[in-house]
Amino acid sequence: MADQQQMALLGATSALAQAVARRLADEGHSLTLVARNEEKLGQFADDLRVRGASVTCITADFDALDTHDSLVEQIADCDEVFCFYGTLPDQSACEQNWTDAHNALQTNFISVVSLLNRLANRFEQRGHGNLVVVSSVAGDRGRKSNYIYGTAKGALSIYCAGLRNRLASSGVHVLTVKPGFIDTPMTAHLEKKPAPLWVGPDRVAKDIVKAAAARKNVLYTPWFWQLILLIIQHIPEPIFKKLSL
Ligand SMILES: NC(=O)c1ccc[n+]([C@@H]2O[C@H](COP(=O)([O-])OP(=O)(O)OC[C@H]3O[C@@H](n4cnc5c(N)ncnc54)[C@H](OP(=O)(O)O)[C@@H]3O)[C@@H](O)[C@H]2O)c1
Repeated sequence: MADQQQMALLGATSALAQAVARRLADEGHSLTLVARNEEKLGQFADDLRVRGASVTCITADFDALDTHDSLVEQIADCDEVFCFYGTLPDQSACEQNWTDAHNALQTNFISVVSLLNRLANRFEQRGHGNLVVVSSVAGDRGRKSNYIYGTAKGALSIYCAGLRNRLASSGVHVLTVKPGFIDTPMTAHLEKKPAPLWVGPDRVAKDIVKAAAARKNVLYTPWFWQLILLIIQHIPEPIFKKLSL
């Protein structure tokens, strides 16, 4: 069994976070679960406690930036912080309505940076810690079907790369996670493609837990998304703009 550590999961009611939490609990780690839906959070915490886990719950809406100082105060002693929360906005609604686009950028990028900025400083001061941030392959190249979400995730990936670079000498590690398609409530409305392109959350959770323990820098999960994105990133713009991706 790995050394027992205190792990905080932001957006702990997400399907992906729950799959990771179960794995971390099975490894004997203590968990601090942070989410906005108190009822859902309580039910999930009870489920983990039945499995023998030590669990603390904090209720928070991450869009409330003015609460971030006090939230970070409550989780800054954790060894590792995993950031899972996010929204998948309707692309055409974002094109027609600035408020929708703004909300998507706020939740998926601004609020995450607000939390990570504060956590990074605390972890840097004490000289250790692991920040695991869930971005997306959608951030690797803008596509017409979801470029507002992709913009937020792409900016988040660049932020994480800079943070990793800054904190490398202080003993603090940053893992950027770039999943492909996962079958979760976030994608419930989308037409599912057959496996292996679509996977369940536990498949991705397994990769995340392993990569976090190995202090990997960037994780594409499942692994083949790295190859797919390598190809997509190298399609020349004159051809790419004619594609319907
Ligand atoms: N599913 C995919 O195909 C896929 C692919 C690549 C990356 N990702 C990323 O993976 C992460 C996990 O997503 P998922 O697939 O597990 O989706 P999910 O089950 O729908 O989880 C999203 C979570 O984010 C929470 N959330 C959203 N806005 C919040 C806010 N302002 N304050 C607090 N909580 C908030 C939701 O809380 P409520 O339950 O209260 O609504 C929910 O728990 C996300 O960052 C997503 O962008 C997903």
